[in-house]
Amino acid sequence: MDDQATVLIVDDEKHTRDGLRLSLEDDFDCYVASNAAEAIEYLRNDRIDVMLTDLRLGEDDGMKLLEAALALPKAPVCIMMTAYGSVDTAVEAMRRGAYHFVTKPLNLDEVELLIKRALRSRTLEHENVALKQQVERKFSIEGILGQAEVMKPIMDTIQQVAPSRATVLIEGESGTGKELVARAIHNLSGRPKANIVAVHCAALSPQILESELFGHEKGSFTGAQERRIGRFEQANGGTLFLDEIGEIDASTQVKLLRALGEQTIERVGSSKPISINVRVIAATNRNLAKMVEEGKFREDLYWRLRVVTLHLPPLRDRKSDIAVLADHFLKELAKANGKTYKALGDDALPAMMKYDWPGNIRELRSAIEHGVVMSNSSRVMLKHLPAYLLNPGGLWVRKTPAAEAPPEAAPQAKSDLDVEEAEHQLILTALQRSGNNRTVAAELLGMSRRTLQRKLKEMNMVRTHRRRMKPELGGSIGEGL
Ligand SMILES: Nc1ncnc2c1ncn2[C@@H]1O[C@H](COP(=O)(O)OP(=O)(O)OP(=O)(O)O)[C@@H](O)[C@H]1O
Ligand SMILES: [Mg+2]
Repeated sequence: MDDQATVLIVDDEKHTRDGLRLSLEDDFDCYVASNAAEAIEYLRNDRIDVMLTDLRLGEDDGMKLLEAALALPKAPVCIMMTAYGSVDTAVEAMRRGAYHFVTKPLNLDEVELLIKRALRSRTLEHENVALKQQVERKFSIEGILGQAEVMKPIMDTIQQVAPSRATVLIEGESGTGKELVARAIHNLSGRPKANIVAVHCAALSPQILESELFGHEKGSFTGAQERRIGRFEQANGGTLFLDEIGEIDASTQVKLLRALGEQTIERVGSSKPISINVRVIAATNRNLAKMVEEGKFREDLYWRLRVVTLHLPPLRDRKSDIAVLADHFLKELAKANGKTYKALGDDALPAMMKYDWPGNIRELRSAIEHGVVMSNSSRVMLKHLPAYLLNPGGLWVRKTPAAEAPPEAAPQAKSDLDVEEAEHQLILTALQRSGNNRTVAAELLGMSRRTLQRKLKEMNMVRTHRRRMKPELGGSIGEGL
């Protein structure tokens, strides 16, 4: 800040105002106001860094002025002046957000010092806010978290394309966040009041999809008893999200192409064109280019859709985001399940980093929910996560998550559990090191093969022939809860 800092002096007594101004005007740009209305006027129209106000302003209440000032978008730092006997009120003012208070009669040096200190704290605060905003803008827009290198161009494109009307094609494996991104683009489009209407194309038969999208007139086909407004019309002025676009049949593709090209649609059973103003965002987990090559998807439609393309990377290609995402879900899902926030235990993250997450972020979210639900302590440990995480890529999986001591269990039981858990970890590590060879693992552990066998049984470990369990089968209780 090159210019002088500005101080607004508010007092109903003229001699206090003048005295303060005289003593402060060498160092600061001073404004004076004799009542709350005047003060607010300055606060609204000028940049005021510090407001120095009496708590008693004749008719007006300094506390109300404080609240009004702090509610402004560019709130000043507020210092309250108070008569010697009313320190309680001044403390209350600080509770409501005042920076500090000075008692009357005023010590002018003290006032000056306090103002300087307040200004320093304000600068710091601003820097912090700016930094935080910068970080958040970069790493999270509209709930899309991601600080991995691969996410940066995606975040940039989302922000760049959102305000335009361009059609966007979002590609990515299942659970990579396609719908989240589509909604973010809509929310950032500058037309947030308008609707986003989603159509899950794969779920509907061709005929139903067509009338779903474009609507139909009464009697246009058997069962069409009423006229129906289609999704395009519902989304007018807003965004139409076409999920699983790769699944639409040839005839709907033609109609869609026309709707996109001419911005008009016709209801099924009518030839009257209806003009529409809809932004289309499409998503697919298939390789559309390949489908075009194979003649399964119209090339002209493909090019219409992919004015801008976003390819969302699978989670295995952005593992550095796992910790941030996991923490985000820990907070969200603890709340949703009526549990207190739990941090990840030491052994959980390494296992999560090793795993490939075929179901991507959705799978991560449901694994965390599993953990939150299964843990009764302040940590989500590896043992609380779905079984397939215990031994990724291995032949051993835990059949059901180990039962845990209830929270009211005696401390004895708890420490027993920890010892047991440590042993389980050792066994799992040995199995991993030995390439799942029980004889070698038993040797590593210094126990007989039979003992290991028994322990594995106790641990509820079973041999499986799958190299990696499908998440739905892994005992996950995520989405279904
Ligand atoms: N970058 C992200 N930050 C935070 N949460 C995310 C992110 N990406 C996805 N999610 C969350 O993961 C879950 C799956 O995301 P979404 O439904 O958008 O995936 P999708 O690609 O549409 O999946 P599908 O192809 O299976 O429909 C949602 O709960 C979503 O909120
Ligand atoms: Mg989806």
